[in-house]
Amino acid sequence: MFEEAQLYSPVSEGEDGAVTVHLADDHPGAGDPDYRERRNEIAAAALAWSPGDAPPAIEYTDTEHEVWRTVCRELRPKHDSYAVTEYRDAIDRVGLPTDRVPQLDEVTARVAPLSGWRYVPAAALVPLREFYGSLEHRVFHSTQYLRHPAVPLYTPEPDIIHEVIGHGHLLATPTFGELHRLAGEATNRLQDDDNVAFLSRVFWFSLEFGVVVEDGDLRAYGAGILSSYGEIDEFGGMEHRPLDIVEMGTADYDITHYQPVLYRAESVAEIVAVVGGFFASCTDDSIAAMRRGAKAVA
Ligand SMILES: [Fe+2]
Repeated sequence: MFEEAQLYSPVSEGEDGAVTVHLADDHPGAGDPDYRERRNEIAAAALAWSPGDAPPAIEYTDTEHEVWRTVCRELRPKHDSYAVTEYRDAIDRVGLPTDRVPQLDEVTARVAPLSGWRYVPAAALVPLREFYGSLEHRVFHSTQYLRHPAVPLYTPEPDIIHEVIGHGHLLATPTFGELHRLAGEATNRLQDDDNVAFLSRVFWFSLEFGVVVEDGDLRAYGAGILSSYGEIDEFGGMEHRPLDIVEMGTADYDITHYQPVLYRAESVAEIVAVVGGFFASCTDDSIAAMRRGAKAVA
C-alpha cells in the first residue's frame, strides 16, 4: 500500500451506515456511477471486517477479472526484463492466478507458507502507524478494489493489483519480505509521529520506488514500479541518486506523477546494508538527529 493520505480516495460512513468512496474529479471512474457504486460496496465489506475474521470474499465481476488479466499479461514480460531476481523467482513460487482476481485469503494461502505473511483488508488509508506497525507481525493491509476498466494500465490509487502483484511477490522473498518486516519493527520503536513519517519516506523511496543494479543491469525492486505498467518503462530514464537515508527521509514526493528522482543501490547487498541497516537500528533520537542535520544543510 502507498503511504500518504492524499493518495487514497477518502471513505465516509453515513449515519444510515451507507459507505461512500469519494473519488477525485479527475479519477478515471469519477463519471461512472456503476464503478462508484462498486467501490462503495467493496469499501463497505472492508469496513465491516474485524481483526480475526477471514477477509471478506469479494465476488469479482467479469470486467474486474478482465482488468486483472490485462495487467498480468502486460506486466509479465516487463517483470522478466526489469524486475530484481528475487522478485522474478517469486512470481513462479507464489503462483498467483493470472486469469482472475484472487481473494485475499488465497493470497495469504500462497504467500504465508513461503514467508509467513498474511493479507488483511483495508477500505482505504490505514493510519501510518497501523499500516507499518503491522508489518512487524507480517500482516499486510490491502485494498480489494480494482482500477477503472477504461484504463487498466493506470491507477491513481493503490488497488489490489498494486498490493498483490507489487507487494505480494516482494513479501514472498527472503530479502524484501524481511525489509518490510524490519520497517514494521522500527515503526513500533518510534514514539514521534514525525519520525514515523521520515521512515515512511525512506520506505517510499526504497520498497515502493527503489531501483538496483544487479549483474550490471538496472532492475526495479519497488512495488510501486513493479505494479505500474507506465512506470516500469520509464524508470531507466529518471534521475538516479545514490542511496542516502537522510535525503530519502526528508525528500518531498508527488504521488500523482511518475517519480522524477529514484534512489539507486549498486547491489541488493547495499539495499540490505543501508535501508535494512536503517530500519534495524533507527530510534527516535537517531532520526531526530538526521532531521536536524537535513534542516541545517537546507
Ligand atoms: Fe505500496
